[in-house]
Amino acid sequence: MRIVIFGANGQTGRLLTRRVLNAGHTAVAVTRNPDGFPFTDTRLEVVGADVRDASSLVDVLDGADTVLSTLGVPFGMRPIDTYSAGMSNVVAAMQKTSVRRLVVVSSSGASHYPNRVDTPFALRIAEPIITRTIGKTTYDDQRSMETIVRASGLDWTIVHPSGLFDLPETTNYVAGEVDPVGGFTSRTDLADYMVNLACDPATAGKTVVVSTTQDTPTMWQMIRREAFKSA
Ligand SMILES: NC(=O)c1ccc[n+]([C@@H]2O[C@H](COP(=O)([O-])OP(=O)(O)OC[C@H]3O[C@@H](n4cnc5c(N)ncnc54)[C@H](OP(=O)(O)O)[C@@H]3O)[C@@H](O)[C@H]2O)c1
Repeated sequence: MRIVIFGANGQTGRLLTRRVLNAGHTAVAVTRNPDGFPFTDTRLEVVGADVRDASSLVDVLDGADTVLSTLGVPFGMRPIDTYSAGMSNVVAAMQKTSVRRLVVVSSSGASHYPNRVDTPFALRIAEPIITRTIGKTTYDDQRSMETIVRASGLDWTIVHPSGLFDLPETTNYVAGEVDPVGGFTSRTDLADYMVNLACDPATAGKTVVVSTTQDTPTMWQMIRREAFKSA
């Protein structure tokens, strides 16, 4: 398959691009900084495009079979519309080019999961604060993005990871139409699951979670790793 990856130069996106190639597909890695993409491959095309620029996306999607998005911007108090404005442009370009399969990363924080299990105590305390403060504009925009994707008429799947962290290998992760388990998802597991979803039409029209339950960090390690990249 020819798979277009938005957010390909991000932390999950690089892992995802590698896995797409390792699975035997052709990868089109989309980034605003194509010169900074860290690897090459005979089946890899690195394309410069900004999802805010609708006019650049039709060419990017020409001939594609599937679109994967790990597009994202950091938390902050400022207004955020990259998820919704970007995905609106991606969806419009997919409709124009008749590309039907779309797998989009959002976040478990953008939804309410009352039956979520094994949530770390510290996260249960922190989550309501985060969703009302530095996470608010992100989660609001991710919910807007999800509304756009659900109304697109495409063969979409929305993926809800929890707090992202890094592990060297995939684990025996929990995934599917279930409530999240714990508070974390490794980027390797997320990338692995997205490649599986790309090839699984049975998940079209569904919102799925992916939870890592092995070798997870403590909340403090998570904050150190993500905020300071030191652990
Ligand atoms: N961090 C968490 O704990 C967490 C939890 C749940 C869900 N998520 C979600 O998981 C996803 C992946 O996270 P991550 O940490 O791997 O992301 P990341 O490293 O921040 O990468 C996101 C990528 O999005 C791209 N991007 C941003 N604005 C763009 C634009 N206007 N046009 C084109 N590309 C643009 C950037 O690419 P370029 O700069 O190369 O253009 C960047 O590399 C994100 O959607 C995030 O919201 C994160």
